[in-house]
Order: sequence, then structure tokens, then C-alpha cells
Amino acid sequence: MNSKSEASLLTIKGLTVRFGGLVALNDFSLTMGSGGLIGLIGPNGAGKTTVFNLVTGVYAPTAGEILLEGQKLNGLVAHNIARQGVARTFQNIRLFAGLSVFDNLMAAVAHKRSSHTLGSIFGQPSARQVEKECRARAAELLDFVGLAHLAQHEATSLPYGQQRKLEIARALMMQPRLLLLDEPAAGMNPTEKDGLRELVKKIAQLGMGVLLIEHDMKFVMNLCSEITVLDHGEIICRGSPSVVQADPKVIEAYLGAQSAHEPLQTNGNSSDTEPGSEGGEEKGTQT
Ligand SMILES: Nc1ncnc2c1ncn2[C@@H]1O[C@H](COP(=O)(O)OP(=O)(O)O)[C@@H](O)[C@H]1O
Ligand SMILES: [Mg+2]
Repeated sequence: MNSKSEASLLTIKGLTVRFGGLVALNDFSLTMGSGGLIGLIGPNGAGKTTVFNLVTGVYAPTAGEILLEGQKLNGLVAHNIARQGVARTFQNIRLFAGLSVFDNLMAAVAHKRSSHTLGSIFGQPSARQVEKECRARAAELLDFVGLAHLAQHEATSLPYGQQRKLEIARALMMQPRLLLLDEPAAGMNPTEKDGLRELVKKIAQLGMGVLLIEHDMKFVMNLCSEITVLDHGEIICRGSPSVVQADPKVIEAYLGAQSAHEPLQTNGNSSDTEPGSEGGEEKGTQT
């Protein structure tokens, strides 16, 4: 079941990767359209981040195919995949320490700005024009994610939830067609999560495809129309939130066989609705 039936912004077929003897992902498939918002869930080590690393060219697949609007991505180097319109955020926040919020956004498009330097030497107006456009986009995106008032603050001095939003804004600087969010709500308090949920909705409404990895079940179930569940590198379930929540295989993967008759909790308080969460492992991590 696709989130937008006819369109295929992203098509993944038979995607497999082995690391030595470990099959981290086996025969993974996915189809999503522009404006689609699909959740990717599963216990720790299930292979979720591996999907992102394959789509963005960090890892080369052992087998399979990744197509963005019909164009093959696998085989391209990571920065070319980014230029094709695939942007991501990281499970562990990766902002530039020592740079302001605004300059973190500008750094995301450094390649565009520097490639026009030669033109400017020959007196072409393009370098200044590109710089102006990038600055305008950065300002617009800071406004979009609600961080405009913090533009000149040092990025890594922001509270954790705001750093996560800044990472999203930075990914959007690339004007992606496909946005991959790796546990964007990790470490956020309930109010921050509400804000993030609205932000992710707005992003999908702009027409981008969003693939969302998240441990917080309530967050995913309220946001995504379709969810794919991975366990040990295999897809064990795919469907609407209600289908996924009721599937005994999913419950077993998260909670163990003895709890297989219980419905998956999705509406407790946020601290106890993160099956498989790594106990705040990433909190405060900056790399
Ligand atoms: N570069 C790598 N080399 C070896 N094993 C890896 C590598 N990347 C991921 N793995 C393994 O693949 C499995 C899936 O990892 P990952 O995709 O990070 O899981 P998660 O679902 O928690 O995001 C894990 O067993 C992990 O240790
Ligand atoms: Mg992960």
C-alpha cells in the first residue's frame, strides 16, 4: 500500500546489505509518493538506520535497487545523491560546533556558494546572487522551524529539542524531494514533540516525501499513514497504524512472545512509550 498511490518518488526493491556474516537488511522494499509520510520502526538493531545509510549512499548495497523518481541512486556517491534531492538528519545530532544557527544552515549549501566563486572573479553577478538566495532561504527556514530569534546563537548551545529542529532546517536547505528523519523526537519533551509533529506534517504538506524512523510509538502512529516494521533486517509488517499496532509479530518483536496478546501501548506518557529506546543514549550527543 503506497501513501500516494500512483506516484513513486522513492522506490526500493530487494535492498540487501551484509556486513561480514551479518545480514543487516534483507530484501527490503518500499514505495512512496511525494507528500507521503511513512514511518519506519523496529527494535534496536533492526536495520532502520541502515536503510537511510543505503539510500544516502553511505553504504553500498549487496543487492537491490533504489530509485528516486525512476532514477537509480545506488551507485552514485553520497554528495551526488544529496544533489539529486535526498536529505537526512542523524540519530546522533551532527551540528557544527562553534558556528551560529544561521551559519550552520549556510554551511549546508557551501558547495553551491563556492562553485560560483570563479564566476564572480570574471565579474558575473551569480556569486552574489547565489549568496543572497541562500541567505534568504536560511532566514525563511529558520522562521519555518521557529528558530528565527536564535539565528545568531551558537548552534550547539541550544537546548536539545531546538538542535533537532535546526538539523531539520539544515536538511531542508538542500531543497530535497525526499527527507529522511532518523529519530527526530529522541530526547524531546512532550511539548517539543508536539511542535515537531506539526513541523513534520507541514514539511510533508509542502510536497516532500518524508521517511521517519522513530521509537516513540505515539509520535509515529499519530503522524504516519503507513508504517513499515523491521526486525533483524526483515520487514515483518506493513500497513496503517492500527494494522501495525495489532499485529502479533510486531508486538512480539518489541515486547517478547509472552506479551503477544497485549495491544501495543501508544498513548501512555512519552517516557514509557518508547519500546526499544536506548535509554536516552543520544541525549546531548554532538558529533
Ligand atoms: N557499518 C556497519 N558494520 C557492521 N555492522 C553494521 C554496520 N552498520 C550497521 N551494522 C549492524 O546492522 C544492524 C542494524 O543496525 P542499524 O541499522 O543501525 O539498526 P537500527 O534499526 O537500530 O537503526 C546492527 O546489528 C548493526 O550493528
Ligand atoms: Mg538507528
